[in-house]
Amino acid sequence: MEFYLNVLLKTIYLLITVNLIFKFSKWLINYSEKLITVNRIKGLPMIPFIGNVHQLKTKYELVKQLSQLAYQLKDEPLWRLWLGTMPIFVFHRGDYAEVLFSSSKNTQKSVQYNFLHPWLGTGLLTSHGEKWAKRRRLITPTFHFEILNDFLNVMNEQANILVEILAKLTTQNQEINIFERLKACALDVICESAMGQHVNAQNDETSEYVQAVARISELVTFRFFDPLQWPDFIYRRTAKGKDFERCLKILHDFSKKVIVERNSHLDDVDLMSKKRIAFLDLLLKAKRMDQSITFDDIREEVDTFVFEGHDTTAAAASWACQLIGSHPEVQKKLHEEIDSVLGQSKRHLTNDDLKELTYLDLVIKETLRLFPSVPYFGRTLSEDCEVGGYKVLKGETAVILAYMIHRDVKYYPDPEKFDPERFLPENTKNRNPYAYIPFSAGRRNCIGQRFALMEEKVLLANILKRFEIKSLKSIDELEPVGDLIIHPNKGIPITLNLRC
Ligand code: HEM
Repeated sequence: MEFYLNVLLKTIYLLITVNLIFKFSKWLINYSEKLITVNRIKGLPMIPFIGNVHQLKTKYELVKQLSQLAYQLKDEPLWRLWLGTMPIFVFHRGDYAEVLFSSSKNTQKSVQYNFLHPWLGTGLLTSHGEKWAKRRRLITPTFHFEILNDFLNVMNEQANILVEILAKLTTQNQEINIFERLKACALDVICESAMGQHVNAQNDETSEYVQAVARISELVTFRFFDPLQWPDFIYRRTAKGKDFERCLKILHDFSKKVIVERNSHLDDVDLMSKKRIAFLDLLLKAKRMDQSITFDDIREEVDTFVFEGHDTTAAAASWACQLIGSHPEVQKKLHEEIDSVLGQSKRHLTNDDLKELTYLDLVIKETLRLFPSVPYFGRTLSEDCEVGGYKVLKGETAVILAYMIHRDVKYYPDPEKFDPERFLPENTKNRNPYAYIPFSAGRRNCIGQRFALMEEKVLLANILKRFEIKSLKSIDELEPVGDLIIHPNKGIPITLNLRC
């Protein structure tokens, strides 16, 4: 009996070993084939199994490093990086990135977005496939321009609060970190527009919700750039992981409470009347028509708006202040334009006013070229593709480097120069549409694009109406950091002179 048991055990061990050797050999063959295919594409020299991990700089220097590489390889259609045994296809030229944007299949986000799932679930930003398509259909009407007009009031009101705070700081001769001020303002705008809630971030920095939003964004970024924090079972046990859970609870409790409250008063909000509505009300109305939409689905979307809709706009408006404040000739033109549209009036900006601020439009576009708030975004490829004679593999990650696509000398001579006139209609008419993608492109472009541009215009016009901006540092001194958004390492210090 013992003999047979021994034979049986040995056979099992043997089968397991053979199976493991078989699987490993298969993986090795697969990896070797991948090495040959991927390494045809140029990139940093790599070490098998380690890839380029040892060469990559910290997030503080990453933007500089990736830019240098992209400039070196500027004539290549794309380049590659290896994170261990995982290849990354980096797209740094718009004409070649088109293959991703125009495909109806390559719409799945890369695995790095999974770190956002605990907070945002699989909402519009992070989902894919049928779930994403259904959400996009549901949410698109809520960004209709007539509905956006309603949010113009929210933007004007918050801009007035911002300008009053700035005026106070100016009379006290204080240096102002405009990035922090605009972040608070943009959070107030999005919370009121998305949830109908005054979180008062501009005047109350102690709010638990406001602090949790800032902290959780920071924690997601730390995790994103530190592979040691990637496995869930390790992360949950770390101090940062516990802090993440704490923030998560504050944020989810807040949005759940708001959803329940707004739902119970929904009948009082006549969507066709002039009463102020929030995106949330529109989603709750949609839920009444389609019972398959759950409160959790709605929470995912509301949290997604808050996440996507404040740091992005704040960063864009802050870089604009920096660039305006260091280009007096641009600032002069902006002052003239704003004075001619608004004169001495203290009224709110209307949609017609915004249409007349055409030079401000150019300045915003050129700022987003130099500092696209989302400097890179990732996709998991759903099909093999051919790019400039190279094979790009299904199942792997593609990174679209908007920051460098916007510096392609073919479309932007002297690319580091701030020159709003690049966006005059006569200068854009022959430009490849994928050479300018601050809001991404194709099916997964930014749904909040018009909202964001409207908000930026209102905030900047209000600041410029009252003040002259003076930037205190050069771009190099500000050390742009490429996290989830591109932001200055330690803020953007400016001074303001009161004009009126
Ligand atoms: C200047 C401001 C903004 C910029 C530069 C920007 C940029 C982007 C980019 C590049 C993407 C694609 C990201 C990716 O593929 O990973 C995106 C997606 C998205 N953005 Fe924005 N965004 C801005 C403001 C906003 C605002 C204000 C909202 C909401 C009110 C918003 C909501 C979204 C959503 C929901 C998505 C996901 C869309 C989808 O996948 O279908 N964004 N944004």
